[in-house]
Amino acid sequence: MLGSERFLRACRREQVDRTPVWFMRQAGRYQAAYREIRAQHTLLDIVASSELSARVTMIPIENMPVDAAIIFADILPPLVPMGMQLEFARGEGPVLHNPISNRSDIEALKPYDPGAELRSTLDAISSVRQMLGERAALIGFAGGPFTLASYMIEGGSSRNYVKTKQLMYTDEAAWGLLMAKLGDMTADYLIAQIAAGAQCVQLFDSWAGALGPDDYRRYVLPTTRTIIERVKAVSDVPVILFGTNTSGMLDAITAAGSDVVGVDWRISIDKAWGEIGADRAVQGNLDPVRLFDSGESLKAAVEAILDEVGNRPGHIFNLGHGILPGTPEENVRTVAELVHQLSERQH
Ligand code: CP3
Repeated sequence: MLGSERFLRACRREQVDRTPVWFMRQAGRYQAAYREIRAQHTLLDIVASSELSARVTMIPIENMPVDAAIIFADILPPLVPMGMQLEFARGEGPVLHNPISNRSDIEALKPYDPGAELRSTLDAISSVRQMLGERAALIGFAGGPFTLASYMIEGGSSRNYVKTKQLMYTDEAAWGLLMAKLGDMTADYLIAQIAAGAQCVQLFDSWAGALGPDDYRRYVLPTTRTIIERVKAVSDVPVILFGTNTSGMLDAITAAGSDVVGVDWRISIDKAWGEIGADRAVQGNLDPVRLFDSGESLKAAVEAILDEVGNRPGHIFNLGHGILPGTPEENVRTVAELVHQLSERQH
């Protein structure tokens, strides 16, 4: 079975010959080949060039047996055509120089055509899809509404999301308008990625777990559900919804209607799947710090996850969050190989 079929079948909970595997942030700073390209170009330059993003997307595919590629881009550049000023400051992570703080800031956010403004990523998707053939499936992605809103309101990364939650709690109408605008933009963008050749899309609502389950249901879930419904209305590509720190709200995350639910390592995958339900596929959930480990100990960690899952169809092996800078490259390749070896099914 080729990688693309293996991955897409698992998303639909169909039988596969081996468990499919890919890694969030599988192209990035832990790789010498990526660092070489980054020495010549900024992150935003890479994203703005279809040729460079296609090349970076392919690095992990050439180096290890992953069953999916994720288009190399970022969740924040799609905020720029709305009017946000984005910079990746050295050592500080992303900075948004004009954070939004009230209803009129939100009203000023502009709708746009992703086919025009995000052309480089769409073109990169089309060319990577050609390069891949059936070797691996191609995943497109976008940021989830809470995570995008948090960067827009805080102006960058945040620990406690005080401003974001304050706006959410004190001006529910303004928050609703922000969610509606982000939801429209995100659905349009994902649909454009699918039209360009993405075979699956993942929503990264990475920081949604900062909310309690009732707040998530009230302030975010309706928007996420609408995004997924709009994608489903025009295509049958599987949708993955990913967040971290969501162990206490997996029922709410599942209610958004994705085909696949991403889980982090703060819950056992067996328990998580029990809460998510047998009618969904599950993606996860190795602790990325495990990849600093090697040999028997790394193997035991991989085996533990595969054993917990057992023979249930619909498992996509991944980390609970992205690969960290400094991770030894050979350990990542080892895990990809181990997942295939250890999960090989007899026919
Ligand atoms: O997974 C992949 O290989 C695809 C590419 C991808 C990137 N960012 C490239 C990137 C994806 C899927 C993302 C998603 C993303 N970006 C998220 C959600 C997922 C997550 O990790 O929780 C978020 C919150 C962002 C915003 C973002 N981009 C931050 C906070 C940072 C800086 C933090 C850091 O690690 O320095 C980025 C920069 C970024 N985006 C890098 C990469 C590979 C760092 C590498 C670089 O500077 O060259």
